[in-house]
Amino acid sequence: MPADFTARPLHNKTVWLTGASRGIGRATAIELAKAGANVVLGARSIEQTEQVAEAIRANGGAAEAHVLDVASWESCQAFAREAIERHGNPSILVNSAGIGTFRPVDKFLDDEFEQQFRVNVFGTYYMTRLALAGMKQLGDGHIVNVSSLAGENEAPMGTGYFASKHAVNGFTKCLLQDVRGDGIRVTLVCPGSVDTRFHIDSHPGMHERDQTWMVPAAQIARSILHVLTAPAGTDISKIDVRPLAKPKK
Ligand SMILES: NC(=O)c1ccc[n+]([C@@H]2O[C@H](COP(=O)([O-])OP(=O)(O)OC[C@H]3O[C@@H](n4cnc5c(N)ncnc54)[C@H](OP(=O)(O)O)[C@@H]3O)[C@@H](O)[C@H]2O)c1
Repeated sequence: MPADFTARPLHNKTVWLTGASRGIGRATAIELAKAGANVVLGARSIEQTEQVAEAIRANGGAAEAHVLDVASWESCQAFAREAIERHGNPSILVNSAGIGTFRPVDKFLDDEFEQQFRVNVFGTYYMTRLALAGMKQLGDGHIVNVSSLAGENEAPMGTGYFASKHAVNGFTKCLLQDVRGDGIRVTLVCPGSVDTRFHIDSHPGMHERDQTWMVPAAQIARSILHVLTAPAGTDISKIDVRPLAKPKK
């Protein structure tokens, strides 16, 4: 039989995607919707998230925006409840929501340190728990956690962000051991520097700088589609995606 080059590999798949208002999450929403997925998008900035959903729908895709604060168990529960009511259980969860605040350890303000763990670690845990229930019923599913090369390295001013991503790496690797027997795939995605506004937001006082040497967010999205379309019965359990170019100082 001839190959069907027009088949959309994620047709009939419902995806929950956190951090969808911008950056890697936004790019992944577009990429997965192009591949035929029905994407249920969550972030705190509902206007921006709605714009992402509208752009997808305008191009014939299926997307819906919901308010989501992954640091709040109640907000995650509300997101899951609405998403399941409207679209049934998810086949795929992509945890892309994340924040970083880079300061020396004795210079964090207020709860900046704790908030990185609430978003990066607890948010990943909450959304995983909520998505897993339905995936276990289906005996099928895929959870993709966007961590970072920071999850296995160290750097000055990284006690909060790097430590939180080390936790995401450990969580994700153990999760795979918990669920692989249930037919659920788990992938840890570890980008290096990606051209998003993350760098400006995470370094207090930093101004715009040349990011053209970094990996475009769309390329991380393509890598996520690649792991989601791995052959049946296999799991690409970890990928690192780094820029080929060297940092511009
Ligand atoms: N850029 C890089 O170089 C790089 C490298 C390695 C790994 N990463 C990781 O990639 C992921 C995406 O980062 P990015 O580069 O795309 O950064 P970004 O452009 O700043 O996007 C971050 C996303 O996370 C969402 N978010 C933050 N706090 C949230 C919360 N409490 N609840 C729900 N959503 C929340 C933001 O939406 P709202 O503000 O609207 O809530 C936004 O959509 C993060 O996990 C980051 O650690 C980034």
